[in-house]
Amino acid sequence: MSLTPSLKPLALAGLLSAVAAIGGCSDSAFESSFAYSEGTLSLVREAREGTKANPGVKKLLDDRFGDPQQLKAWEKMPIDFGGALTSVAEVKQSESGSQVVKLTVEEGQSLPAKAGTVHFMTGACEGETVQVAQWNAKTGEATLAAISGNEIAAGDSCVIDRGAGLSTGRMLYMRHCSHCHGTSGDGNGPTARYMTPKPRDYRNGVFKFKSTNDMSKASRDDLSRIVKYGIPGTYMPSFLLMKDDEHHAIIEYVRFLSMRGEYERKLVAELSSDYSQTAYESRVESGEKKAEILQELDEFLAEDLKESAGSLGDDLAETWTTADTEEAAIVPSVPREANTPESRRRGRELYLSKTLNCADCHGIDGAGNGPQTIAFEKNPAKGDELYNEPGLHDIWDNLNQPRNLQLGMYRGGRRPIDLFSRIHAGIQGSRMPSFKNTPHEDIWHIVNYVLSIPFETEPGATGVAPSAAEAVAVPAAVTVPVAE
Ligand code: HEC
Ligand code: HEC
Repeated sequence: MSLTPSLKPLALAGLLSAVAAIGGCSDSAFESSFAYSEGTLSLVREAREGTKANPGVKKLLDDRFGDPQQLKAWEKMPIDFGGALTSVAEVKQSESGSQVVKLTVEEGQSLPAKAGTVHFMTGACEGETVQVAQWNAKTGEATLAAISGNEIAAGDSCVIDRGAGLSTGRMLYMRHCSHCHGTSGDGNGPTARYMTPKPRDYRNGVFKFKSTNDMSKASRDDLSRIVKYGIPGTYMPSFLLMKDDEHHAIIEYVRFLSMRGEYERKLVAELSSDYSQTAYESRVESGEKKAEILQELDEFLAEDLKESAGSLGDDLAETWTTADTEEAAIVPSVPREANTPESRRRGRELYLSKTLNCADCHGIDGAGNGPQTIAFEKNPAKGDELYNEPGLHDIWDNLNQPRNLQLGMYRGGRRPIDLFSRIHAGIQGSRMPSFKNTPHEDIWHIVNYVLSIPFETEPGATGVAPSAAEAVAVPAAVTVPVAE
């Protein structure tokens, strides 16, 4: 999917025309604009705001994603922005002289009852969004308010009310989700502050409970399950009663926020090593001239960043598209092993084994209290300095308690296949590792064992427990504090 270098300039030329603005609405009780990330704010002003001639991070981001009052539909993104796909069957003049186009829908779709805009995908008006003055849902005749000099022709394809789905998604999101997940999807809504675990910050595109391979994004089905059933044992509620079309719109909006956040991170990553405030200051300190650094930045914005603005979008689109394909799905190569005492005993052996060492985090009896929960972990964000508190941390820097498996409460679903996926892919963003190289039969034995833990009268009652003493040795990566 990624573009060959020679095609890039071409794609860039068409880039902004492929972004359609979506009509505004202002029912928001919260912040009315998207917040920029700390990464963006840490850049020197010119990198952030742009120079006279060239856009910086904020503009590149806003041009493609807009703000909550005026969302934008960047065609490149694999998002169902909503609206009906049609094509022009006939172009006529009305009595008043304005243009009337007769539209027909693609097979399997129907014309909407109301229509506010027509967005052209092909033809001379490609990329243009035109207001509809009058709409006849029966005949498909739209009287267009005003168009540029370009000729519309039969065969042009266009979308009626493009972005309608995203606007609906936004409205529902603001009502049901934003007080926890925040307007920008940063997990920082007004009620989030005292929650553990914190509401997900969507902006780095990392989701924990998914049925896809460890390196893949969450699929639409994964997000859908989470929103339908909630996450047991956390503040994430179930929205099972939401209507199907509303549910769909909200999922697309979560994906939109996630892509926006990731796109921002990618842009910042292009600039931060040379043009963050800190990098700039140390360059000046080491004798470089301010004017020269800013000149170089201006050239970087004009050439490199403009170019990568397109290709980063392609990469992002590809990873999200792949998540919904078979290629990304975790499919056990063997059916579930029969849930027998032998299978559970084998599962427990593996659980305690030196290679898998689940007990290191989850504890010998599964209570979530293994040695790693009392060790002090290194903080990668602070040059490997130790955290002040013992225990594991997730990538959002929150304390990440291994699950207490005695409770039988699983955040990512309690079906055997859910646990299979959790063990196979790990839990992204958390310290629960992926065991994708473990044979699938063995994973099923572990699943059988894990599911039996809440019902055991004593650890290992399902079979003979192997000696656990050697299985719980603290690995070299963790530094255990020495008593003073
Ligand atoms: C009362 C607060 C609250 C509300 C309201 C809420 N969430 Fe959440 N949400 C959370 C918390 C807390 C988590 C993190 C749970 C965890 O890390 O185990 C979460 C996690 C998620 C995740 C991440 C799942 C994963 O696999 O990583 C998604 C997606 C999500 N919420 C979507 C939504 C949507 C969509 C809505 C509105 C329809 C919503 N949430 C409403 C608190 C909330
Ligand atoms: C390095 C520490 C670590 C190791 C090793 C580890 N886990 Fe975990 N595990 C965690 C953490 C942390 C969580 C909680 C993640 C979260 O929800 O953010 C977790 C969560 C889980 C869950 C809960 C899933 C859910 O849906 O709630 C299961 C089941 C689980 N682990 C099983 C295992 C098994 C089986 C092994 C060994 C094959 C294992 N873990 C190894 C740290 C670990």
